[in-house]
Amino acid sequence: MAPDQRLYDNHGRLINYVRLAVTDRCNLRCFYCMPEEGIQYVSREALLSYEEMLRLMQLLAGMGIEKVRITGGEPFVRRDMIHFLRDLCAVDGIKKVNITTNGTLTEKLVPQLKEMGINSVNLSLDSLDSSRFFEITRRDAFDKVMRTYQALLEHEIPTKINAVVMDGKNTQDIIPMAELTKEDPVSVRFIEEMPFNGEGAHYERLAWNHRRILSHLQERYPAIEKLPDPPHSTSYNYQIPGYRGSVGIIAAYSRTFCGTCNRIRITPNGMLKTCLYDNGVFNVRDLMRAGATQEQIRDTFLEALGNRAKDGWEAERNRSFGMPVTESMSTIGG
Ligand code: GTP
Ligand code: 5AD
Ligand code: SF4
Repeated sequence: MAPDQRLYDNHGRLINYVRLAVTDRCNLRCFYCMPEEGIQYVSREALLSYEEMLRLMQLLAGMGIEKVRITGGEPFVRRDMIHFLRDLCAVDGIKKVNITTNGTLTEKLVPQLKEMGINSVNLSLDSLDSSRFFEITRRDAFDKVMRTYQALLEHEIPTKINAVVMDGKNTQDIIPMAELTKEDPVSVRFIEEMPFNGEGAHYERLAWNHRRILSHLQERYPAIEKLPDPPHSTSYNYQIPGYRGSVGIIAAYSRTFCGTCNRIRITPNGMLKTCLYDNGVFNVRDLMRAGATQEQIRDTFLEALGNRAKDGWEAERNRSFGMPVTESMSTIGG
């Protein structure tokens, strides 16, 4: 890749990772993501089609994007997702295709994911207790998710568990989930809750921030060791001595990792977000449907990245009309 074709932002950060939200629909109703009654979904025509997504990914691969994470909503509620994934894995220049899934529909697809070379799967799982799982997700799917977890381990697909830590909901799960790493080669990541739940902040202040989560782990495991974090990692990683896996803490609300941010997002209806906390910069679907050339789309990306907020705090301040964050994570794509 010629250096001038690569995508840098105005803070000198190389952008080589795109998070592509393939749908805003989901078959769970997680407390931290959506209200019980759900959200107003995007119409099917408003979604980027598979052809449009592939065209976009080819273009972005030509600008140095090497890693794609498929998110949603729940990716596997979209019909024929597996065929799209196969095509995506074959795009020249895309070295890693990762998926974030709730695991409810994934178990039987695991062998195909392995075979097509999916790099890793991040599984959302916020409790190891089926009744707490039900309370959080408002659906009875705990056993299915656990079967997906086992299938991922059996097929040796690198797996991370994402657990959002919620005051009064699942803090009693922190230690049992950390215990999973004793026997399983998995990374269990505890995530600060963000106000992206479709209704606005649940609390006035975040009771369980990254520091409190760490203290809680250190109290139980005084010998817990810091691991080196991979470049651009969202998680601070640790290991309990003698355990096979690792634990991580993601300061998603405190936004302590923005300095090394290498990612952009495409929402299900084709908005580019240069930060999780911004309001969307331009709609690539509209550009494509208006007949824009690859060159024009490329230039629009370059311009957008030339005006990027330096961190999630600045992006949030810049939201139009100072509107607070209220959208659902499923319309943003995690
Ligand atoms: P890896 O690619 O495996 O490092 O995963 P990831 O952490 O980038 O992705 P994942 O979809 O598993 O996200 C885990 C948690 O981190 C979710 O709660 C995300 O919303 C949060 N997260 C991911 N990217 C960002 C980001 O750019 N900013 C913030 N503030 N949080 C993020
Ligand atoms: N706060 C923090 N993390 C969230 N996720 C979804 N909604 C929120 C929220 N409000 C996480 C899920 C999923 C990832 C893509 O985003 O755990 O794993
Ligand atoms: Fe990047 Fe924004 Fe996330 Fe910070 S909050 S890591 S700048 S996307």
